Amino acid sequence: MYIGIDFGTSYSAAAAIINGKLCMVRFGEAEQFRTAVFFPELVPDPNDFALTPELEAQLEAQLRLARTQQRQQAAAAAARGQAPVSRSEDELRHEALRVVRRQWMEDQTREATASVASFQHALFGEDAVEGYLDSGGGNLIESPKSMFGYRLDPQVRKVIVHIATHILEHIRLTASKQFGVPVRGAVIGRPVEFRSSMGAQGSEQAIEILREAAAVAGFDHVIFLEEPAAAAMHYHKSLEARQHALIVDIGGGTTDVAHAELGGGVAPNIARSWGLPKGGTDLDVSVSLHSFMPLLGKDTIRVPQHQFVEAASVHNLPKQREFRKQNYRLVPAPYGARLRALQELGATTRLNQVAERTKITLSGSPHYRAELDFIEPGLAVEASSEDFNTAIESFLNQLERTLATVRGDLDALPASVFLTGGTSRSPQIKARVEASFPEIPLVQGDPSLGVVSGLAVAASEI
Ligand SMILES: Nc1ncnc2c1ncn2[C@@H]1O[C@H](COP(=O)(O)OP(=O)(O)OP(=O)(O)O)[C@@H](O)[C@H]1O
Ligand SMILES: [Mg+2]
Repeated sequence: MYIGIDFGTSYSAAAAIINGKLCMVRFGEAEQFRTAVFFPELVPDPNDFALTPELEAQLEAQLRLARTQQRQQAAAAAARGQAPVSRSEDELRHEALRVVRRQWMEDQTREATASVASFQHALFGEDAVEGYLDSGGGNLIESPKSMFGYRLDPQVRKVIVHIATHILEHIRLTASKQFGVPVRGAVIGRPVEFRSSMGAQGSEQAIEILREAAAVAGFDHVIFLEEPAAAAMHYHKSLEARQHALIVDIGGGTTDVAHAELGGGVAPNIARSWGLPKGGTDLDVSVSLHSFMPLLGKDTIRVPQHQFVEAASVHNLPKQREFRKQNYRLVPAPYGARLRALQELGATTRLNQVAERTKITLSGSPHYRAELDFIEPGLAVEASSEDFNTAIESFLNQLERTLATVRGDLDALPASVFLTGGTSRSPQIKARVEASFPEIPLVQGDPSLGVVSGLAVAASEI
């Protein structure tokens, strides 16, 4: 059996057409789940440290280095006419042992993180986020799709493939159980352009990662379909007369546009597509930078701007690691303590949750009080819709430019614009799309389930 899978940046869903009817795969009570995985880390025990011959050799090398350094320092001190600071052989050995032991712990931690065993206790969706925040340890990977197109070192790539595998396996097993037959094939949605640090090569890598992961997850046959094409499939079924339409899908990680011939009982024909590798998760980062980071010293203290961006970018593991590495001991009060609190495990995830809530609330109401107690008791921000508009202006401009390109590329105006994707729930975003095509009607599709239902239709036609 084939199913349609929307492996979204923020939310994932799956569905099949059974007896001509759309059947959503249910994850617990829900028809989609947050694309997040938590797996507890196998924390290495320092008591397991024992000097193997290999570690013994490292210790000796470390000790030789320390002796050489001590001799050089002594010579330099003598040249300045000062008394040398000399440490005993015991002290040198003790220090060398400490260095070797620390290195060993770091290696163990790295191995544990990459180990497949730790994936057996994975949690998915909101449970993953909660599991992470409750456990005070382990690893939370949110929106792994955002990383598929990035330059990844082989170790990280392996971890990312494992994560994608677990998500796809979770979907396959849940669907097989619900439908009572083994699910072996899938039509998986893909953005026109993945978020990438390597241009088109990033999208190729992303597809490779998904292919590898799907195979390990037990899918024997996999087909990829562009997400706007899938969204169009659904709209297509609802149109009696043939027309040219523009499909705009503004999701969590990417914005996809497709020009298609739809309706009239003939197969849909996707003529052309465009992509902007930006979406709702970028709006969360913008809200965080605009409304929250000034409370942590942005624009006030002499911490480089990029460190605030790194702190806000929860979906980018290397950036998060960079931020956690910084030393804010000398940053003046109250910012130093706040930055250090944000470096605590789980704090950037919490900040991002508040940013997303702020974004969603300000999409509909004029004010939101964002509580940041986890950074400092009583810390809060009163954010207004003007703040929100300022924060998202750069995204709105990019969206406008993309739509202007689309307009310029088309020979004739389409009959309608079909708008979908979670981010299209924001009236500000919708207004900007409308303003780019004022002459034609804007049809609002189901923001969440449009893509997956189209993929299910495609799956049923195989
Ligand atoms: N009312 C709202 N206003 C603004 N944004 C919203 C609203 N509701 C949900 N969102 C945002 O929509 C995004 C998720 O949309 P969607 O489910 O279409 O994305 P996705 O399919 O997971 O991502 P992609 O298609 O880019 O891979 C999230 O960033 C979420 O915060
Ligand atoms: Mg999507």
